[in-house]
Amino acid sequence: MAKLRAAILGYGTVGQGIHRILQDKREELHQSLGLDIEVGAILVSDLEKERPAAPGVRFTDNFDEVLSIPGLQVVFEAIVGEEPAYGYLCRAIDKGCHVITANKVMFSRYHIDLHERAKAKNVYIGYEATTAGGVPVIKTLKNLLQVNSVHRIQGILNGTSNYILTSMRTDNSSFEDALRDAQALGYAEADPYNDVSGMDAYHKLMILSALAFSEQPDRQAVDVKGIDAITLEDVKRAQEEGLRYRHVAEIIQHSNGRLEASVGPQLVGPDHPLYAIEGVNNAVAVDTNYIGTLTLVGPGAGMYPTASVMVEDYAEIIGKRAGFMISI
Ligand code: NAP
Ligand code: HSE
Repeated sequence: MAKLRAAILGYGTVGQGIHRILQDKREELHQSLGLDIEVGAILVSDLEKERPAAPGVRFTDNFDEVLSIPGLQVVFEAIVGEEPAYGYLCRAIDKGCHVITANKVMFSRYHIDLHERAKAKNVYIGYEATTAGGVPVIKTLKNLLQVNSVHRIQGILNGTSNYILTSMRTDNSSFEDALRDAQALGYAEADPYNDVSGMDAYHKLMILSALAFSEQPDRQAVDVKGIDAITLEDVKRAQEEGLRYRHVAEIIQHSNGRLEASVGPQLVGPDHPLYAIEGVNNAVAVDTNYIGTLTLVGPGAGMYPTASVMVEDYAEIIGKRAGFMISI
């Protein structure tokens, strides 16, 4: 029986989801393909914190212990911020491990370096979970870019913002109450600044830009606004006029190749494709030369949607290595 050893960095909303899905799928994979996936260690920052148990798995706050797992094959990264995440992933790749990340803050900045390192070591990077949660926008873009070129991407890329705007409109929630709910549901970051300031959607837009256009626009020049200045009264007034607030991230490639990006709230009417996108859902509309406009919609945050696409990335990697498609 082939034993596959994994480690999970972070055991918050996403890390716990990854562990649960790998546990759920372990027996199936064992039966169908003779593969045994074992989580060798989980990295956290505070070993004293009370958290759901993971029987048989070692918890550690020392990344050296993670790297010392014999036969470690894949590292799932679900911690927060640029460092130490970037440093950990560099070391994992240098050791020959595949890495799968949900960390858009880190990945939007270091994607080129990580891709180059991974290529040099002949390992894969999965990053579907960095952008739009459970919506498979990365794999869809990779597929369509084999034939199409993209000239515009427009979407709702932050689940928390859309959840808050929807709750304010449909439940009369205050901004603060809606944000608290989004945190309790595992949608918002522990520090929700990036969610409500527009920075989270900005990081995701930069990741999409790198993939779709092989470059990012001048990062400092992007106009980024959040939903933090929108009040319940604003939302109600808009509703009376038949309009809804949506937090929209958009990037266009002009005919001279120049990229222009913006992130911020917009008032949209019933004819707008983002009008009907409610709650934690995200939507990404991609304008291409052959297909026309392709729109993907689905849950943009939360434990299982995010963890699921990370485990799908892993399935794809195992399949690529073995030369076939597997479903886990
Ligand atoms: P979370 O609930 O706040 O959990 C973060 C986990 O990372 C915690 O277990 C924490 O340890 C650990 N951690 C943080 N800094 C660490 C460090 N320096 N060393 C070791 N462990 C560290 O966050 P989350 O919602 O799971 O999100 C994790 C990542 O996925 C973030 O980058 C986030 O942006 C991204 N993401 C989240 C979602 C979502 O829906 N939540 C969706 C897509 C992507 P302790 O438990 O000891 O505090
Ligand atoms: N906090 C993020 C959001 C998680 O609400 O969209 C998904 O990246």
